[in-house]
Amino acid sequence: MTITVVGAGYVGLTTAALFANAGHTVNLIESHFADRLETIKSGRSWFYEAGLDPLVARAINAGLLLPTDDYACLKSTDVVFSCMGTPDNPDGSSNLTFVFNVVDEVIKTLPDDAIFIQKSTVPVGTGEEIKRAFAAANRSLAYVSNPEFLREGTAIADTLWFDRVVVGSDDVQAAETVLDLYRTLESHREDIARLADVTPYETQASLKGEYIRTGQNSAELIKVTANAFLALKISFANSIAKLADATGADIKEVMNAVGADPRIGRAFLNAGRGYGGGCFPKDVSGLIASGQSRGVEMTIMHEAATLNESMPGYIVEKLKEALGGELEGKKVAVLGLAFKAGTSDARRSTAVSIANLLTKFGAKTHAYDPEANHDAERNGLSPDVSLHESTEKAVDSADAVCIATDWEEFLAYDLGILKAHMKGNLFVDCMNVFDPERVSETGFRYIGVGRSIS
Ligand code: UDX
Repeated sequence: MTITVVGAGYVGLTTAALFANAGHTVNLIESHFADRLETIKSGRSWFYEAGLDPLVARAINAGLLLPTDDYACLKSTDVVFSCMGTPDNPDGSSNLTFVFNVVDEVIKTLPDDAIFIQKSTVPVGTGEEIKRAFAAANRSLAYVSNPEFLREGTAIADTLWFDRVVVGSDDVQAAETVLDLYRTLESHREDIARLADVTPYETQASLKGEYIRTGQNSAELIKVTANAFLALKISFANSIAKLADATGADIKEVMNAVGADPRIGRAFLNAGRGYGGGCFPKDVSGLIASGQSRGVEMTIMHEAATLNESMPGYIVEKLKEALGGELEGKKVAVLGLAFKAGTSDARRSTAVSIANLLTKFGAKTHAYDPEANHDAERNGLSPDVSLHESTEKAVDSADAVCIATDWEEFLAYDLGILKAHMKGNLFVDCMNVFDPERVSETGFRYIGVGRSIS
């Protein structure tokens, strides 16, 4: 089966590399970023994702992954995955310009018996609009919504040991063809995992992945609903964390016991500096906008977003108070700028917001991320933040250190050595990933989010 993936972003490149490693011929169209295309042609990923480079290299060397900027390859394609970005408009709604650019190309070039698969996160109702565009152009292409659930940093394991593959279409045969395509991926799982050197998480290993067929609108709504619910869980945990701070309770103890109830579950109840990245903030605002366009108020999601936006400021206030109420002239190190560990992605990173706020309040802010320094600069990091290439350089003579992204490199760092590099002793655990007792034993003053030792 010849597949074409349009868009070589986080989802597009991962999808293309995986299907090529399952033996399919995969064209990968990237018509916007020439530098990304060149990097992929040379057999590498343009972003950091564990395990992806060997998959790209093997697929390129085998001639199964064919990167191009030319839509002409659509002519001889059986299925197309559209993996375009859907950035948000100033009013929070999704900007579908890139999605409809692909639709225009597909209408011009894709053969009649081919299947068009929408992987981009689109508002519910978009598929109907696209089908109207097909009909207006007298094209009878099959349309399938196939939302993506992979997480950056664990993209390959998430896809190989999936919890669900959702395929939504009114065309039963097209939906079955897409499900069969995923079954080929599942049958190559061990080989691909070995090459990528990834293993399933404890929770993934026992999963019996479900293939779920739904209606088209349901599939579109499933994607944003899943992300919005996870964002809601995080904001809920953060609101309880504020109460824990005010009462001396420990949010980790609280959520550990609350999450032991299987009806609730422990996942995504980790309080901290709030969610960021290319999905949650955008999907929450997209859901609100979808509701508004149909006269449905998503009040609960407004509250989740507002709470999330308050977290960097909340943490910076705590830090300021611990430094005597003044940040002017203080040196603060921010370790981690990516929106989470395991990725070079700093889009909407709350770690970047923390660094910027510190700077705004007069602190001399020094930062380091193992992979995301460059992306942080492209994603709004204040030019007044000094970027470094190592932890030692960032923390040198600092009054306080904020661990803002849970990279293993920071978790494993010898705290005694860390402290020895610094002038002060304030340790701000922005993601609650350290043991407060252990940190305090090193002579640090520990501040977490909803858990502190004074
Ligand atoms: C998310 C969804 O998980 C994934 O299914 C979807 O396909 C894309 O969006 P991703 O954005 O890659 O994936 O990251 P995820 O691991 O979900 O984390 C999102 C943000 O929430 C990160 O900033 C993370 O640090 C934060 N987070 C996560 C918390 O603050 N607390 C938690 O308990 C979990």
